Amino acid sequence: MPSIRVAVIGVGNCASALVQGVTKSKENGGGLEGLSFEKLGGYSPSDIEFVAAFDVNKQKVGHDLGEAIFAPPNNTLKITSGLKLGVEVKRAPVLDGLGKYLKEMITVDERPEVDVAAALRESRADVAINYVPVGSERAARFYAEECLKAGVAYVNAMPTFIASDPEWEKKFRERGVAIIGDDVMSQFGATVLHKTLARLMVDRGVRLKQTYQLNVGGDTDFANMIEESRLKTKRISKTSAVQSLIPYSVPTRIGPSDYIEFLENRKYAYIMLEGTYFGGAPVKLELKLEVWDAYNSAGVMIDAVRAAKLAKDRAVSGAVTSAAAWTMKHPPIQMPYEEAKRAITEFAEGKRER
Ligand SMILES: NC(=O)c1ccc[n+]([C@@H]2O[C@H](COP(=O)([O-])OP(=O)(O)OC[C@H]3O[C@@H](n4cnc5c(N)ncnc54)[C@H](O)[C@@H]3O)[C@@H](O)[C@H]2O)c1
Repeated sequence: MPSIRVAVIGVGNCASALVQGVTKSKENGGGLEGLSFEKLGGYSPSDIEFVAAFDVNKQKVGHDLGEAIFAPPNNTLKITSGLKLGVEVKRAPVLDGLGKYLKEMITVDERPEVDVAAALRESRADVAINYVPVGSERAARFYAEECLKAGVAYVNAMPTFIASDPEWEKKFRERGVAIIGDDVMSQFGATVLHKTLARLMVDRGVRLKQTYQLNVGGDTDFANMIEESRLKTKRISKTSAVQSLIPYSVPTRIGPSDYIEFLENRKYAYIMLEGTYFGGAPVKLELKLEVWDAYNSAGVMIDAVRAAKLAKDRAVSGAVTSAAAWTMKHPPIQMPYEEAKRAITEFAEGKRER
């Protein structure tokens, strides 16, 4: 297969896990542990090639992407070392990328910002992944525009609504560019678990009364999300993913709850669902999930990137709804996970247009 030329916008923990995972896959001759699809439409993880990277942090800009992924404040697991990818991290415009807390943790590089669309064109990227912090509404839209200008498929990993906004989706459709978004849904994370359990309880006749999901972590994503004003779309994205599978209204509270520095990139999620079943008898489920957050998103991102490349190969523009339902929390069309898996499989096999 030809390679999939990928640009990363925001060289944080998620980019680190993705770059390290793909590198491991190349070392293993193509395979990679822990993926839902070893091959998707013929593409393997090792077909991914990183061709451009953008950030604002002084400790990352100007460095090789293979080194920048280990620069602080990144703090996810290290599964590779001595990486040199020959891709220099370029100085991106800051826009609203750094909130109150990240401004205290990150020193912005002083060199002038690059022309992102021109850099994307020059890199001949097929797909760009938007990994900027939650609440970077202007930045997410700016990068969407740059991808439209450069004709690069856009995978929106964060919860600014672009693929799921009909106006924006139309722009991508009209300009002949594919988009997959919004807000990546981790492989075995709190969202897929919560929505699947809610659906199971409903399907088994439980009348759900109330539910919550509290999340804590110790990385910059969680530090940034203490700022409640940046969280609006994240709460909507996480909450709607669960509510979409419950056919009636249930009091629900879902979101990031605190920053605990020593957890590093580990995330702990606490999920509670309660209701009644036969005879009005009460039932309650509580669980705790512990994961390495960035790695939880990277495998799914490999699926999103491969689907975006397939869309490009087939000149499919606008939202790739099957892949979005499988890989994202807030896709244009929500599906239970088994239906989403069927849809992306059919798309990969060419049996479904998008
Ligand atoms: N499982 C997961 O980790 C997961 C799941 C769903 C969504 N997400 C989202 O994905 C995004 C990335 O997560 P992360 O853990 O890598 O975050 P992170 O904080 O580690 O990385 C964000 C990076 O973006 C850079 N940045 C800030 N402003 C920028 C700008 N204007 N242009 C370019 N770069 C800029 C920062 O310097 C940093 O390197 C976040 O929005 C997060 O909420 C992650």
